[in-house]
Amino acid sequence: MKLAHVAVKAAALAGFAIAQSVAPSETERIIPTLSPQINALPSLTPTIYDDSAPDPQKCPGYKASNVAENDHGFTADLTIAGANCQAFGTDIADLTLEVSYQAKERLNVRIHPKYIDPKNSTQYILPADLVEQPEWDGKTSASCSDLKFEWSNDPTFQFKVLRSSTGEELFSTYGHVIVYEDQFLELVTNMVEDYNVYGLAENIHNFRLGTNYTQTFYAVDAGNTIDGNVYGTIPFYQETRYGQNGSETTAHGMYARNAHGQEWLLREDTITYRTLGGSFDLYFLSGQNSDGCSSALTTISQFQVGCIGTPAMQMYWTFGFHQARWGYENISVVQGVVDGYSDAKIPLECLWNDLDIYELYRDFTNNQATYPLPQFTQFIEGLHAKGQHYVPIIDSNIYASNPDNASDAYGPFERGASLQTFIRDPTTGDFYYGDNWPGFSVWADWLLSSSQAWWTDEIVQWHKGTPFDGIWIDLSEASSFCAGSCGNGRLTDNPAHPPFLLPGDPLTFDYNYPEEFNVTNATEAASAVAAGASQASALSASPILPAATTTVQGRTEPTPGVRHLNFPPYVINNVQSGHALGKSSIAPNATHNDPYNTTEYEMHNLFGLQISNATYHALLAVFPGRRPFTVGRSVFAGSGKTTSHWGGDNTSTWGSMFLSISQAFTMMMSGIPMFGADTCGFAHNSDYQLCSRWMELSAFFPFYRNHNVKAAISQEAYRWSSVAEASRRAMAVRYSLLGYMYTLFYHAHTQGETVMRALAWEFPNDESLRETYSQFMLGPSILVTPVLVPNVETVQGVFPGIDNGERWYDWYTLSEVDAQPGENVTMQAPLEHINVHVRGGAVLVLQEPKLTTAETRTTPYSLLVALDCNGAASGDLYLDDGESLMPNATRLVQFSYSNNCLSFTSEGSFHSAPPLSNITIAGLQSQPQHSSLKAGGQECDFSELTTAFEDGVLRISGLDKYTSGGAFEHDLELSFS
Ligand code: NOJ
Repeated sequence: MKLAHVAVKAAALAGFAIAQSVAPSETERIIPTLSPQINALPSLTPTIYDDSAPDPQKCPGYKASNVAENDHGFTADLTIAGANCQAFGTDIADLTLEVSYQAKERLNVRIHPKYIDPKNSTQYILPADLVEQPEWDGKTSASCSDLKFEWSNDPTFQFKVLRSSTGEELFSTYGHVIVYEDQFLELVTNMVEDYNVYGLAENIHNFRLGTNYTQTFYAVDAGNTIDGNVYGTIPFYQETRYGQNGSETTAHGMYARNAHGQEWLLREDTITYRTLGGSFDLYFLSGQNSDGCSSALTTISQFQVGCIGTPAMQMYWTFGFHQARWGYENISVVQGVVDGYSDAKIPLECLWNDLDIYELYRDFTNNQATYPLPQFTQFIEGLHAKGQHYVPIIDSNIYASNPDNASDAYGPFERGASLQTFIRDPTTGDFYYGDNWPGFSVWADWLLSSSQAWWTDEIVQWHKGTPFDGIWIDLSEASSFCAGSCGNGRLTDNPAHPPFLLPGDPLTFDYNYPEEFNVTNATEAASAVAAGASQASALSASPILPAATTTVQGRTEPTPGVRHLNFPPYVINNVQSGHALGKSSIAPNATHNDPYNTTEYEMHNLFGLQISNATYHALLAVFPGRRPFTVGRSVFAGSGKTTSHWGGDNTSTWGSMFLSISQAFTMMMSGIPMFGADTCGFAHNSDYQLCSRWMELSAFFPFYRNHNVKAAISQEAYRWSSVAEASRRAMAVRYSLLGYMYTLFYHAHTQGETVMRALAWEFPNDESLRETYSQFMLGPSILVTPVLVPNVETVQGVFPGIDNGERWYDWYTLSEVDAQPGENVTMQAPLEHINVHVRGGAVLVLQEPKLTTAETRTTPYSLLVALDCNGAASGDLYLDDGESLMPNATRLVQFSYSNNCLSFTSEGSFHSAPPLSNITIAGLQSQPQHSSLKAGGQECDFSELTTAFEDGVLRISGLDKYTSGGAFEHDLELSFS
C-alpha cells in the first residue's frame, strides 16, 4: 500500500472523515433578536449543482483577426463568432488578445475587452499597483522561450501552450469555446489522464487535488471549510507529470491573475476556470531550470520570483513558540500563562491576546477593568525584559459610535469618518454600516491614501500604551455578521449586541472532544455527551433562539446593461448557508471612494491583502527599519511580501491536524511560508493525546502557535504532563534548528524556495509520493513523520530515494535507517516522541535549545555532518541581526564535506559571537586514523579535543578554545585519512 493511502485509511479508521462537519464560525452561531434583516438572504443553488443552468460551452466563442506581431509576441482582435448567448452575463463582443513571451520561463496570455472606458466599464481589470502584474523582461522573444503558443480559428479561437523543447502540451483550450461576459468568464483546458494538480490555495483538502474537485474562491469567514472556499485566494496551480518508461518527470504551472469570485472545476479530462468578471491574465510557467529540466520546486520559485513577489524575511524571534487564546480574561490570567510555561520549562517566545483586551470589542482600546493601563504596559514590558514578545489582535471592522450618545464616542471611527475613509453604501451614499463584534461597524477603504495615514496613526498611538511587537489581523475577508448595510439609520442602537450568543455566554460551552476521546477517557466522554445534550435542550427551549428568515430564490437572469452585483447570475458554491455572496461579509454592491466607484464585487478577495499591507506600513512607522510582523487571516496572491498567515478556525480533531499539513504545502507554494495552524485545535476541546501530537507536529511548521476558542478547556502546553514533555522534546529539536529554519527563510525571501516541502517535490521521480502529506520535509534535509491518529505508539513512514542511494539518519541517535525502497517502515512513536530524520548529504548548523530564541542564539554552534552515499555533504547558514529590513551586515556560510575533508567559506561581515564547539559526523565507514583540524586560523591539537567514535558517528568537542572569536570568523578545515 502506498504511504499516502496509509494515512487516509488510518484517518478513516479513526473516524475522521475528510468531509467532516464544519466548525461554527462567528457568523454561524445562535442568532438572537437583533434585526429581521440579519440572515434574510435568499438561498441559492450553486450553479455547479444546478441542472437548469445554461451550459456556457454552447456560447459561440470568438474569431481572431488583425494579428500584429511585436518583439515579444503578438496582439490580435477577438470578435464574437455568433449571437450573444447570455449564459451568466452579457457577452462582450470585441476583445483584445495579447500574447507575450515575458521571460524565458514565462508566457503571458491576456484577453480583455477591446474598448475599456475605466469610468464606465463593466470589467474590473486588476491594477498593477494593487497586485503585482508581471511584464516582459525586455529581452525574451518566441525564439528563445521555454514555451510555445499555438492557436487556431477553426472552428473558433482556441489556443495551446507547449513546451518548446519537447512539444509537451501543457495547456489546451482546443475543442472548447472561450466565454467572455460582463459577469462570467470561462476557459477550459484539456488535461492528461489522471493528472496531478496541486495548489489553488487556500483550500483544506488533500494535497493532490484530484480529478473530481471544485475549488471556489471567495474569502469567507467560516471555520474549517473542508473542500470549500476558505479565507485566501491564490489562483495558481502546479502540475506534475511522471515520466513513462524511464523518461524524466516534468512540471509546470499556471497563474490566473484575477481577484473576482471564481471557481476551478477539476474534472476527469479537463479543468474549467470560471470567474465572475475581470479579464483573463494567465501566466504559464515552464518550471525549467537552466539545464532545461523542469520540476515542481522550480515552478513554485518561478511563480514567486516572476509573478507575485517573494515572501518577507521574518524576524528571528518569530520562529519561537507562540501562545494565544480567546478567553484570557485579565492580566493575572496572562501572567499565569507566562509563569506556567516558565515553571514547566517550556519555551515561550510570544504571548498573544485576542479580543479580551478590548473595551466592548473596539480596536485600539484597553479594557480598563481587566487589562488596565499602566499595569498592562508593565506586563508587556516584563515580557520584553525576559526576551519575550507580545502580539495582540486587531479586527478589520471599526465600531461606528452612537451619534446620540456622547459617552459612546470612539476616536478611531470619528477620525476615520472625518477623513471620509470608509467603504460606502451605494443606496444612501453614506458609509456602509455592517455588523461585527462591537455592533454596527464600518470598514476602511484602502483605495484611499488617507486610510493608510489614519490606520498608521491609530496603530502608532495605541502602541504607546500597548507596546506590541507585531499585529494579528483578524476577520479580513472582510466579515460582517449581517446582510447589507444593516446599520443604516440604526446607529443609535449601538453598541448593538452581535446577532448571536458569544462564546462564553450561557449555554455556549463546547462539549466536543477529539475522535476516540471515548476510548481514552470513557467517563469524561460520557459526561460530556450528557452535558452537551442537556445544553442543547436548554438552548432549544430558550427565547434567544433565532427565527431563520431565509427565502428561496432561483438564479438571477442576466440582463443586458445591468450587472447583478449582490446576486450574480452565476452562483459560486460559497460555503456560507444560502451560498449568497453577501452572507457574512460586506455586500458586493458596497462602494469604494475611488474615481471609478469600484465595488466590493470586484474588491472582496483583496481586503485581506490590503489591510495586511496597510498594517505592514503602519508597523514600519512604529518600528522604523524593522521587519514588520503581521499575521493575517485573508490572503491573496502576493500577500506573503508583507504578511504571514495562520490556518484559521480549525477544530481539535485528528482530521484537522492532518489536513493542516496539506494546507501548509499550498501556502508554501503561494509564497506565504510563515504559516501555521492553531495547534491543538481552535474550536472544541483538545485532549492530552491530540495536543501532544499536535505540539510535536507544529514544531516543524514555520509559524508555531497554540490557540483556542473561548468556552473550551485550556490547552496550553503545560496543562497536561504528556503535552509538556512532548513540547519540550519537539521544541528542543526546533530550537536547535532555528538557524536552519532562518536560512530556509532567507532562501525563500531571495529565491522563492519552499520551507516545508512535500516529499513529491524533493523526490520528483517517485510517483508513489504524489499524494503524500502524512510525512513532509523541512527544507531539503529534515524528514518529519508525525503521528496523525489516536491511540498508537508506532508510526509508519517511507524513506524516499533509498533505491538511488539516499541515506537517512535518526535525529536523536544518528543511527542510519535500514529500509528497503518503498518500504513502509514501522517506527516507535511513544506519545512524547516525534520521528525526525536527517537526510544524508546535509551539513546542519545547530545551537543549544534554550527557553527563548534570543538565548538560544547566544549558545555555541555545533555542526552535524550527515554523509551521503558518496561520503559527501553540504549546507549553509545565513546570519544577520535578525530584525532589520535592510541589515547593514550579513553573512552566508557555505559548508562542504568531501574526500574526508570538511571546510567552509563565508561571505559577508556579520559577526556572530558564539564559538563553534562541536562537530559530529554521521555515516562514516570506519574510525579515521589520522585527523587534522585547522580552526580559527590555528592548527588544533587533537589531544586537547574530545573525540568519540561509535556506530559510524564521530563526535569531536572542545573546539570553543579555537573559535572563541566567533564560529565563522575564520576558515575551518578538518581532514581525515
Ligand atoms: C476568529 C479568529 O479566526 C480566531 O482566531 C479568533 O480567536 C476569533 N475570531 C476571536 O477574535
